[in-house]
Amino acid sequence: MGTVIGIFSAKGGVGKTILAVNLAVALGAGHRRKTVLIDLNPGLGTADLLLDLEPENSWGDLLPVIDELSSKHLQLAVTDYHPGVDLLNPPPDISRKGTFTRRNLASLLDAFRAEYDLVLLDTPPGNSPVTGAALSLADVRLVLLTPDAPALRSTSRFLAGLPGTERLTGLVINQHAPGAAISPDEIKDHLGTHLFGVLPMDPTGVWANVSYGEPCVLRKSSKLGKSIRQLSARLLKMIDQTGI
Ligand SMILES: Nc1ncnc2c1ncn2[C@@H]1O[C@H](COP(=O)(O)OP(=O)(O)OP(=O)(O)O)[C@@H](O)[C@H]1O
Ligand SMILES: [Mg+2]
Repeated sequence: MGTVIGIFSAKGGVGKTILAVNLAVALGAGHRRKTVLIDLNPGLGTADLLLDLEPENSWGDLLPVIDELSSKHLQLAVTDYHPGVDLLNPPPDISRKGTFTRRNLASLLDAFRAEYDLVLLDTPPGNSPVTGAALSLADVRLVLLTPDAPALRSTSRFLAGLPGTERLTGLVINQHAPGAAISPDEIKDHLGTHLFGVLPMDPTGVWANVSYGEPCVLRKSSKLGKSIRQLSARLLKMIDQTGI
């Protein structure tokens, strides 16, 4: 059975999609674990752009058959990025936001766990219903934040309201730069949660990813790509050691 890794944040725009896309490529192409990235942002998802894909199908196509999903259904719904790396795109219609109930999402994840080693979730920020469902279903929860006071306060409140505290939860600090006003250790102490990773500010690598759909992890010169490759190796080690 595959492991579900959710990428969450209290505040929007902190880098969840950049991390999700690059982790999917590092885990699926680099470590050869069959990986699917599910973009849970209806209408607003950008994982396809960051992978330079034009998906024809979405998880919206799976909702009518959610209780009887077969591997054929999954194969038809996903878009291939690379052998071992697939994307399940969200529907383009923003108003479909409410259609993923916890029960629907649980069925979807059960079906994907049976077919993939790793299921990555890119989620809407904050505590939308779909994010709440994903928080309660993911085996591993990475909570991303930037090193600034607004993100720190939002993340503190977000962590206080988390369901299922027995699930593995780690902080990832993104856009870290030397001389930042708050250090990673101060953030970890303030939030009292395990610090899983620190990712550097990398405007050049991110620009190529956002503009041309060239993942940072495939770019040798990208500092962010290197850090995400290292993070992917730690993540796999943790999953293999804990058996989740
Ligand atoms: N490590 C980084 N270095 C430089 N810029 C970054 C980095 N990470 C993210 N960014 C900037 O932040 C922007 C937002 O990133 P991204 O779309 O991944 O955030 P998000 O958390 O998914 O946003 P949303 O909450 O809207 O889904 C990027 O387009 C980029 O400009
Ligand atoms: Mg995003």
